Amino acid sequence: MNKKVKNLVFSGVQPSGNLHLGNYLGAMRNFVELQKKMDCVYSIVDLHAITVFQDPKKLEKSIMETVSSFIACGLDFKKSIIFNQSSVSAHAELAWIFNCVSRLGWLNRMTQFKEKAGSNRENASVGLYVYPNLMAADILLYKATHVPVGDDQKQHLELCRDIANKFNNDFNNSEFFPLPEPLIQKNFSRVMSLRDGKKKMSKSEDSDFSRINLQDSEDDIEKKIKKAKTDSHLITANKKDLENRPEALNLLNIYSSVTKTSLETTLKEMEGKDFSKFKKKLADALIASICPIGKKIKELNKDKHQLLTILRDGTEKAKVIADKNLKEIKQIVGFI
Ligand code: TYM
Repeated sequence: MNKKVKNLVFSGVQPSGNLHLGNYLGAMRNFVELQKKMDCVYSIVDLHAITVFQDPKKLEKSIMETVSSFIACGLDFKKSIIFNQSSVSAHAELAWIFNCVSRLGWLNRMTQFKEKAGSNRENASVGLYVYPNLMAADILLYKATHVPVGDDQKQHLELCRDIANKFNNDFNNSEFFPLPEPLIQKNFSRVMSLRDGKKKMSKSEDSDFSRINLQDSEDDIEKKIKKAKTDSHLITANKKDLENRPEALNLLNIYSSVTKTSLETTLKEMEGKDFSKFKKKLADALIASICPIGKKIKELNKDKHQLLTILRDGTEKAKVIADKNLKEIKQIVGFI
């Protein structure tokens, strides 16, 4: 990577009223750690959200709740730039340029499009298809060098690097865009559904029992963990015994991640116990770490003025970087 490039973190989260444990453990907890050592830009990516239809009233509310969630999880809006994507128009402008750099063949390989469009692909929005180009624009607009994400975004990050590389080559400017590094949690990068250990935990799954939402009450968490799918085997200290038991592995990984211990330590601690005993411990650990965040989100949601001020200040700061870089990019492309 170009040595002159300054380290900068960029990441985005789609506005959804119910951010869940996967968003928190896979991405947002890492956002908070990174702001201690690097300059960070975090966006509420509302342009991405409308790739599937959103009720305008609900979207507005979800954007505000995502700002609250960022702050409640520990992001400091004085240190990090927090803004909503649609308020910085350079994102959409650069996305168009990247639509012309990126290749159809590259987009055709994107597994997330295939999953989201499902069998009714002809009816998916064009935006959903070119979504990864917009994501590359988000990152490269700030010349970001590091991108904390969950494992499900890995392929999009590879595409972003391909776009950066092609742009640099096409325009004979080999060091213009840095090739951003994905920062993905090492041991547990994909939190799985509580109902099906082979599917990722997601806001789009119908059953609310498949996920822990950041705003769930103690009661909700207890009920969801009690109902979570497992099996009748005892827990042993041997990791190998978890092969082909995705639901058991997921719950043990969640516990390890929430309590910040290794899976090996959790297995030793729980050795000989059955899942009913383990689930009680898991629910307690989740209640201790998630419920204070949920309470804070609800508190922050009450002060709409403060949330709007955070977004307005963040937008101003984001625009300074984005507009400067977009100007350079336009010159490179040959626009007058
Ligand atoms: P989104 O909004 O779906 O999710 C936000 C972040 O949460 C992570 N995540 C998970 N991690 C582990 N286990 C899970 N079950 C889980 N579910 C979600 C995601 O990986 C993500 O890091 N396309 C992105 C948003 C985006 C973006 C960007 C990210 C737009 N532009 C630029 C980084 C850089 C998305 O839809 O994330």
